[in-house]
Amino acid sequence: MPVAPPVDAPFVYDPTDPATQRSPFALYERLREEAPLYRVEHPRFWVLSRFEDVFAAARDTATFSSAQGLTFEPGEIEKLGLAPTIVMMDPPDHTAFRRLVSRGFTPRRVAEIEGPVRAFVGERLDRLAAGESTDLVEGLVGPLPTFVVASYLGVPAEDRHRFDQWTNAIVAANAEGEMLGRALGAVTELYGYFTELIERRRREPADDMITDLLAADIDGSELTVEEVLGFCFVMVAGGNDTTTGLLGGAAVLLTEHLDQRQRLIDDPAAIPNAVEELLRLTSPVQGLCRTTTRDVTLHGETVPAGSRIHLLYGAANRDPREFGPTADTLDVARQIRRIMTFSSGPHFCLGAAAARLQARVALEELLARMPGFTVDESASVYAPGAFVRRHESLPFSPTGA
Ligand code: HEM
Repeated sequence: MPVAPPVDAPFVYDPTDPATQRSPFALYERLREEAPLYRVEHPRFWVLSRFEDVFAAARDTATFSSAQGLTFEPGEIEKLGLAPTIVMMDPPDHTAFRRLVSRGFTPRRVAEIEGPVRAFVGERLDRLAAGESTDLVEGLVGPLPTFVVASYLGVPAEDRHRFDQWTNAIVAANAEGEMLGRALGAVTELYGYFTELIERRRREPADDMITDLLAADIDGSELTVEEVLGFCFVMVAGGNDTTTGLLGGAAVLLTEHLDQRQRLIDDPAAIPNAVEELLRLTSPVQGLCRTTTRDVTLHGETVPAGSRIHLLYGAANRDPREFGPTADTLDVARQIRRIMTFSSGPHFCLGAAAARLQARVALEELLARMPGFTVDESASVYAPGAFVRRHESLPFSPTGA
């Protein structure tokens, strides 16, 4: 469904247009410079694109609420009959829930997956080197996050194949926001599967996140099975295509900027800093909506209470007001103070450390084993969807031949 701006808009910004999704950055510049508060008529929503505006709105959850949903139109979760998940809660409910689930995201858990992640990446790179796949999404950056989410949740190895299939169906439908209903079969099967897994973990606790979530107890409040289920769903829907977007986008940037790549080959210790810069430029979650709880005046205009407002993290991350005149270019040595890639404030991504780990390990291994790799952006295909920008396929050559 294409969106329509008002007749007096200075230009058309349509986040549902596939051409915009593929290449949104020139429009982001126009939004920041010419229409920092942009209005879309159909469906009615507003757009914020400057760093300071997006940063402030994300942190002000009393004014910019998540409780009506994060897409352009209300009701996406209700249509599925699911309870609101953590991303669709406001404080104080969100605060209490987040305190409980944070127990599953310990630094130890991140540290422990480094070895398995490195082994997984190595094995996938061996297969790419052998020519078993010529696509980076299929060969590495699609399966890697699925492996990590499954490891976090403690999905046993023998169930991974089924889990991967549900994940792929949910990720594909989720990209289109309002089309999640298409994956209803997969969602139902996944919920059924996790209901059983939760029962099993009650009987046989293991060293995994579901066990941690079941044991979480703060001041006598604990999570219900429905809440654990909803949280597993957020992990699947939020932890996969985002990381695919980061890793695919990183491969494109390092193919386009060989001088920057060389710096990382010469000095792998620079990779963690480069990951921050790649997170900034790729910004896999390009934007999400909030709903205003009161009239808000911004840039001389008043957004009425109850309006949808799109926080464009991807535009904020390239704002020269925050990142200087080179904001649009890759500089692996850039010192970054703040980025919006994982949002900011109460909803700051709980998987940020896991995403950074995957990017660091994938780049370390890829650059050490295949320093001459290339990807072909011109032949790539982007997944549809206004919210997460990621490749569906990205042709890959281990040697650049
Ligand atoms: C590069 C990869 C990733 C990106 C760009 C990303 C981005 C985000 C963003 C922008 C939010 C805030 C949503 C909002 O503004 O309403 C968020 C929340 C969240 N993310 Fe991530 N994410 C990534 C990876 C992951 C991974 C790997 C996991 C799980 C292992 C994860 C789990 C979550 C959870 C549970 C939340 C909800 C936090 C809350 O609402 O309090 N994410 N993520």
